[in-house]
Amino acid sequence: MGNTYPYNTRLLLRQELFFVRQGSYSRNSGYLCSMTQPRIIIAIDGYSSCGKSTLARQLAAQLGYHYIDSGAMYRAITLYFLRNAVDIGNRDAVANAIANINLSFVFNEVRQASDVYLNDENAEPFIRDMIVSEKVSEVAAIREVRVFAVAQQQRMGLHKGIVMDGRDIGTAVFPDAELKLFMTADPEVRVMRRFKEMYATNPGITLDEVKSNLELRDYIDSTRDESPLRRAADAVLVDNSNLNCDEQLKLVLEMVKDRIKAALRK
Ligand code: CDP
Repeated sequence: MGNTYPYNTRLLLRQELFFVRQGSYSRNSGYLCSMTQPRIIIAIDGYSSCGKSTLARQLAAQLGYHYIDSGAMYRAITLYFLRNAVDIGNRDAVANAIANINLSFVFNEVRQASDVYLNDENAEPFIRDMIVSEKVSEVAAIREVRVFAVAQQQRMGLHKGIVMDGRDIGTAVFPDAELKLFMTADPEVRVMRRFKEMYATNPGITLDEVKSNLELRDYIDSTRDESPLRRAADAVLVDNSNLNCDEQLKLVLEMVKDRIKAALRK
């Protein structure tokens, strides 16, 4: 039986329009996604290309939870800034731009994940382009941008039953999440993974370009003043350099089971 999201998002105010549910979300039944079990928040953080989104998507499918790619929000904001030539050094310009941005998520049956919409336009086809990747960490380091994105992310977690991945989910967005993971993998493994992903849509891309971009983003993300990428003290470290997707999922589902049991005892 599939879970139904507790409210019809079409009825919400524009700023509250996060999820547009199209039919049942859950494709799995059984212990973990039973309606009688407490729903938890799973926060996944880590450097670029550590396989966070793959794991998050699989977990959400298994549990009948929402998967939210918080990075997609920062990418969509960056796309808006690029298209509108927003001067990121000018606080007023940034504030005005943010006031004109509306982000929402629409579940895409084909991808089995949510697409991020920027002012009612599906931004997914554009947000992974290198031009966005090159700017996103600078944009995401701006305080006003983070305040805007984090407030929206926190509202998405109000009903729990959510898996969110990013850089500050366990430290800033959901510091009380029942399960926090900090994912890592060898840098060469990460570069190769991202290169293969990007090569599929952009055969002109080079390994060096991908490597430099990951290194630069990791550096900016972990050294910025505003909620830098850190492992939360209570996050479980998952190194997936030598784990395949199934092994990783199995490992984490055991943790989820424990956390749901712990939530039941509360
Ligand atoms: O897919 P990948 O891990 O390379 O990146 P992403 O999750 O799409 O995030 C893109 C960028 O957004 C990151 O490099 C960060 O600069 C920023 N980000 C952030 O600051 N905080 C988050 N919670 C998620 C992403």
